[in-house]
Amino acid sequence: MSTNPKGKRRKYHISQRANQISPSGIRKFFDLLASIEGVISLGVGEPDFATPWHIREAAISSLEKGYTMYTSNLGMPELRQELSRYLKDTYNLEYDPDSELLITVGVSEALDLVMRAILDPGDEVIMPDPCYVSYNPCVVLTGGTPVMIPANEENNFEISAADIEAGITSQTKAILISYPANPTGAVMTRDKLAQIAEVARRHQVLVISDEIYAKLVYGVEHTCFATLPEMKEHTILLGGFSKTYAMTGWRIGYAAAPKEIIASMTKIHQYTMMCVSTMAQVAAIEALKSGEDSATEMVKEYNRRRLIIVKGLNDIGLPCFEPKGAFYAFPSIKNTGMTSEEFAERLLVEEKVAVVPGSAFGQCGEGYVRCCYATSLAEIEEALSRMKRFVVKHRTV
Ligand SMILES: Cc1ncc(COP(=O)(O)O)c(C=O)c1O
Repeated sequence: MSTNPKGKRRKYHISQRANQISPSGIRKFFDLLASIEGVISLGVGEPDFATPWHIREAAISSLEKGYTMYTSNLGMPELRQELSRYLKDTYNLEYDPDSELLITVGVSEALDLVMRAILDPGDEVIMPDPCYVSYNPCVVLTGGTPVMIPANEENNFEISAADIEAGITSQTKAILISYPANPTGAVMTRDKLAQIAEVARRHQVLVISDEIYAKLVYGVEHTCFATLPEMKEHTILLGGFSKTYAMTGWRIGYAAAPKEIIASMTKIHQYTMMCVSTMAQVAAIEALKSGEDSATEMVKEYNRRRLIIVKGLNDIGLPCFEPKGAFYAFPSIKNTGMTSEEFAERLLVEEKVAVVPGSAFGQCGEGYVRCCYATSLAEIEEALSRMKRFVVKHRTV
């Protein structure tokens, strides 16, 4: 038993750190959604495609062969070799499969491990606002302090090197960025990323670059942060399979980083996860070896949907920034006079369309909602027509 701040007895003691974080703004909302029938969801950020068949088949075949044991903590050697080859072919980056790569339970686990490996209580991590929902809690749970830097629409939802530099203190241990970005779909050019790299180098601060959406770009080239001059040794590159190969449920991703960092992350991973599920690792080998064509097909389809949803949102009076990456549109809802949470809740109840309030991604997400367009064109079109009705009814200007 313990007492809460008002002196009342609590049944269970919950740690201060756990109390410091809030339930995910996305999940909270989806509990409500589950109770309503006939909803079109532009909510959860996951592909509507099933994992390509040849990838599923590889996993099925591994089960048939009885590959059901633990693997190396780092991940299966063949997977690490394949990943090393992939990073070399894609970015001309060389990572030693035995010491510089770690296979994790999604980028989610990699984020948690990296924070636990590099932060002490009171250390600071700079990150954009808005950003992916787990960044802030991952830092708080280590006793660290997230330092949120606005990445506003006026700046194309990019985080600027100058703003980052202004946020650096003697406690800053890392800058966490993710382009293409969730929730905005923003991308950053190589030149602008190079400015961030220059600041990181000068202040000797690590960069954690979450590049889970690296393959989901439209008409622009993705820059891998570790390819910037001298940045490989200062970058922790996080990547995954969830979005590129429609493998969200398999729970597999990776970290590529200097060996001292991988060694520390591996110690934590060893005692907590041990290893990623064996069949997911087999599937990931197949994805890296032969998944390129299926991934390209899915990206083509996302692009078709992207053009339709962005035009549709603008046409119905929700001004929408053009996202060049990921699979999210992030329209402004300011002209309805509602908060983003109010907008999302009322849209769900009145028109049965689920979007995520921008405020779930940080204070600077207020005034926007996230619409995931990794859903069928027919559903996108129906959602747009319902949203139009809603906006016409509620528009204040
Ligand atoms: C930016 C970003 N990073 C990480 C994740 C988590 O990915 P994973 O499924 O690999 O854990 C997500 C999922 O939505 C994401 O959007």
